[in-house]
Amino acid sequence: MKICIVLSTRPEIIKLAPLIKLLKLKKENFFLINTNQHYLNMMSNIFFKYFNIPHPKYNIKASAKTHGIFFSKTIKEIEKILFKEKPNFLIVQGDTNTALAGCLAASLYNRKFSTKYKKIKVVHVESGLRSFDDKMPEEVNRKLIDHLSNILFPPTDIDLKNLKNENIKDKKIYKVGNTISDTIKMYLPKIKKNKILNKLNLRRKNFFLLTLHRPESVDNIKNLIKLLFIFQKISNKLNKQFIFPVHPRTRKSLKKIGISHERLVLTEPLGYLEFNFLVKNSFAVFTDSGGITEETTVFGIPCFTLRDNTERPETVLIGTNQLVGINPKKIKFYLNDLLSGNIKKGSIPELWDGKAAERIVKKLISL
Ligand code: UD1
Ligand code: UDP
Repeated sequence: MKICIVLSTRPEIIKLAPLIKLLKLKKENFFLINTNQHYLNMMSNIFFKYFNIPHPKYNIKASAKTHGIFFSKTIKEIEKILFKEKPNFLIVQGDTNTALAGCLAASLYNRKFSTKYKKIKVVHVESGLRSFDDKMPEEVNRKLIDHLSNILFPPTDIDLKNLKNENIKDKKIYKVGNTISDTIKMYLPKIKKNKILNKLNLRRKNFFLLTLHRPESVDNIKNLIKLLFIFQKISNKLNKQFIFPVHPRTRKSLKKIGISHERLVLTEPLGYLEFNFLVKNSFAVFTDSGGITEETTVFGIPCFTLRDNTERPETVLIGTNQLVGINPKKIKFYLNDLLSGNIKKGSIPELWDGKAAERIVKKLISL
């Protein structure tokens, strides 16, 4: 068995770390391709180091000036590598442009009819998620990846059902749970202690944590200003700071509007331990991230999901999340609930038990 893993972005590294660790432990033959979609140290390298992930054998440096430029260079380079390495499996995770580029490259490679070329099985980890909102590039990416993949690993029953509703064959699908729970379980003991509270001069449960990076929240300047105004009002009223590790995409928009408010504390993107220590010790989290809504679900921390839809409905149905969009009325409503202690406890979805990577590796070995 020879496995190629294509990755780059922050959530891909975080969620593939347990799988890579297990493949290493089992001495399986695998190598990594980094597309460098995320190229800043704090968005990429820092996570490779923290999770002790082997250096990628191949680094593609595709400009992300336009999606077209990114895809054409990345697919071309990955295809070249696949001809050279001839892996049996190519693994991608989630819904990023990197994941789609890896999947497309393998899928195009598989068009060769010659018997010399053994086909590559495309493996999709975190398959079947659907927001049913085609305005999101990620929704389009996910659907394409799922329909081009040979082995699909949905985390939950809802994701599995989404795949069946799109007539994807049962025999390709294996529900395995969510690898984020593995990451948390592996690194949770270390989350008990960290210096970040002191560094930012924070008291436990006395601050909000905020992240924003979706184009609809941050590229749309009107929406971004509206959101910042809401946070300013809340922080003034409750005398609690908002700690805001800023994604590079968001940094660009913030530069355009220029903000300054003593209770809105902007930081660089944080390391995994620092960030999740803040999640666990926050009063509540405000975010438009996907992965963070999963982490708040696992930790049982109240989470205002700043979106109108989610491809992770379990985090709202079972977990502690609430979809509030950028609607001040909805935010106020949930905040009042939170302040009066009238808040659902939430629980952890089935198979988010820290064993997802184990199930994935077991399945791959058996194929
Ligand atoms: C990407 C994913 C998104 C995921 C997010 C995780 C796609 C379509 N989107 O969004 O699903 O939730 O990663 O964070 O793949 N930038 C830098 N340095 C970096 C990374 C990004 O400066 O290391 C800036 C660049 O100006 C870039 C912009 O951020 O143009 C957007 O980056 P991009 O990778 O296209 O999308 P993300 O918003 O990061
Ligand atoms: N994260 C981090 N540092 C930060 C912000 C987020 O380590 O400053 C982690 C977070 O714990 C989660 C992941 O990054 O595991 C989420 O990434 P992001 O929000 O960029 O992407 P999404 O999950 O929305 O695709």
